[in-house]
Amino acid sequence: MLKTHTCGQLRIEDAGQEVTLAGWVNRRRDHGGLTFIDLRDWEGLTQVVFKPGVSASAHQVAKQARVEYVLQIKGRVHKRPKGAENPQLATGEIEVVADSAQILNPSKTPPFYINRESKVDGALRLRYRYLDLRHPHMQRNIILRHRAVTFIREFLDERDFIEIETPLLIKSTPEGARDYVVPSRVHPGKFYALPQSPQQLKQLLMVAGFEKYFQIARCLRDEAQRADRQPEHTQLDLEMSFVEQEDILQLIEELFTELVQEVTPHKRVISPFPLLTYDEAMARYGTDKPDLRYGLKLVDMSPILAQSSFRVFSETLAAGGQVKGLRAPGCGGYSRRQTDELTQIAQDQGAKGLVTFSVQEDGSLKGYTARYLSTEEEAAIVEVMEVQPGDLLCIVAGEQAVVASALDTLRREFARRLELADPDLLAFTWIVDFPLFKWDEDLERWDAEHHPFTMPKEEDIPLLDTDPGAVRANCYDIVCNGVEVGSGSIRIHRRDIQEKVFEHLGYGPEEVEARFGHLLRAFEYGAPPHGGIAPGIDRLVMLLADEPNIREVMAFPKSQSAMDLMMNAPAPISQEQLEELHIRLAEEVE
Ligand code: AMO
Repeated sequence: MLKTHTCGQLRIEDAGQEVTLAGWVNRRRDHGGLTFIDLRDWEGLTQVVFKPGVSASAHQVAKQARVEYVLQIKGRVHKRPKGAENPQLATGEIEVVADSAQILNPSKTPPFYINRESKVDGALRLRYRYLDLRHPHMQRNIILRHRAVTFIREFLDERDFIEIETPLLIKSTPEGARDYVVPSRVHPGKFYALPQSPQQLKQLLMVAGFEKYFQIARCLRDEAQRADRQPEHTQLDLEMSFVEQEDILQLIEELFTELVQEVTPHKRVISPFPLLTYDEAMARYGTDKPDLRYGLKLVDMSPILAQSSFRVFSETLAAGGQVKGLRAPGCGGYSRRQTDELTQIAQDQGAKGLVTFSVQEDGSLKGYTARYLSTEEEAAIVEVMEVQPGDLLCIVAGEQAVVASALDTLRREFARRLELADPDLLAFTWIVDFPLFKWDEDLERWDAEHHPFTMPKEEDIPLLDTDPGAVRANCYDIVCNGVEVGSGSIRIHRRDIQEKVFEHLGYGPEEVEARFGHLLRAFEYGAPPHGGIAPGIDRLVMLLADEPNIREVMAFPKSQSAMDLMMNAPAPISQEQLEELHIRLAEEVE
């Protein structure tokens, strides 16, 4: 090694030792005749002092060095002079006095500060990702990710899971996004699809008799980017044979609880993880991924306001809609401008408007709409919403989905304004009993709520023929702090049920054979009952690392427009390559 110690290692006990350090120049200061360099590596910083009287040549090297130069120094560890200690630094009681130094590699001036946190343009960070990753907080995130994945591997190995790699060049497996495809040179006009997940392959591994499988698997999806969505992500993909839903939930609950204790012991989880049905989550929070670090539950006021003389309420209810509300503690003093802001938030989610009441000292409701409330209606609202003087009530009337989305957004907004979410709490929650299908308005057909391989609940199987919308699925999501961290299900392992589900999804027999014939055939050879789950590693580590975007926990993420700005991909390929692949570009692309 070109070093005897790391830059985070030396302590007062090492005083007197001769050491060799190597790393990057974090900062250089000249003081009188002396030069100080904070030398940095991935373990920390050590102050190195260059004294012309000790080594003129080393001092000369230090004079030439600039930030991010790579240096190797040899020297002796000294206790720092009294008053010069730095308690912020693990090595802050010592310094190394250099007797020799060499520049291993110079550096151009970096395009942004590495030795301090500053606001840097996101595209610039991605273009120079290798420099961005030198920031201590990025190093921490990537190391935390490694620790989490290592813990997961060991935890599962101890429980007799085996890790099996599955191919990247496969046939399309639907997870609700577009496929990335790879043209075949050998088979003109044919394409592989990159896996959106190893879903079908892991089910085929169950048919093959590997009863406990996992994989840290790359998944590729061509879909719109968001803070928690990237074109490539990593899942802990997991599948087991001869299991029921409860077995998977228990395993993952143990895994996550122990993982948090091990890698982020300053964080707490709620034990046992609360479990909500999809219907309960939608009713109480207006979303299937509620943040349970705080209350602010939605209250259904439809029964109270069915006869309301305020026509927005009564007409919405008569048309089959809903009237629901949310109580924001202590926000009763909001100005007109502030309530207008809230109205805008609701309208952005499709609501026609927002009704607000402020709760007076005597418990009565004040607001433009208050005059339309009868005494009984007002009293009933005060009771169901458990109001306190000084509260603000926000009420939305409309279609169920719009009310849910508007109040979910307002709920998160109030939590942010009122700082209700404890940053050190990881509120994991199970959401179960999702519907098997959702209606696709545009295509006018059923779509899979999770994916087409999900087993309907046994007692709901007869409804497949009569009322598909009412069929519930044996599937589950694990949600944490408002983020969907993972999804899974008990799978269909019988050909007849799988065919029926495909039929409801609008696939004709030929399409089923072409796309899924391999799976249906496998089910005819003694497929065991099986089920699994796939937590998203990027989202999980994002939450552990307190980051707002999964990009911060991925070494080389893509930009908002799915570009690799560092390598500049996607990029054109040569005419020769195109010809080999039997591809002719449309004129407008050229
Ligand atoms: P699903 O599509 O719900 O299920 O994905 C599982 C989990 O993967 C993460 N995830 C993503 N993370 C970052 N960027 C993305 N674009 C992205 N898409 C998904 C989420 C999500 O909960 N095969 C099934 C799992 C199963 O049934 O076992 C599947 O892929 O955390």
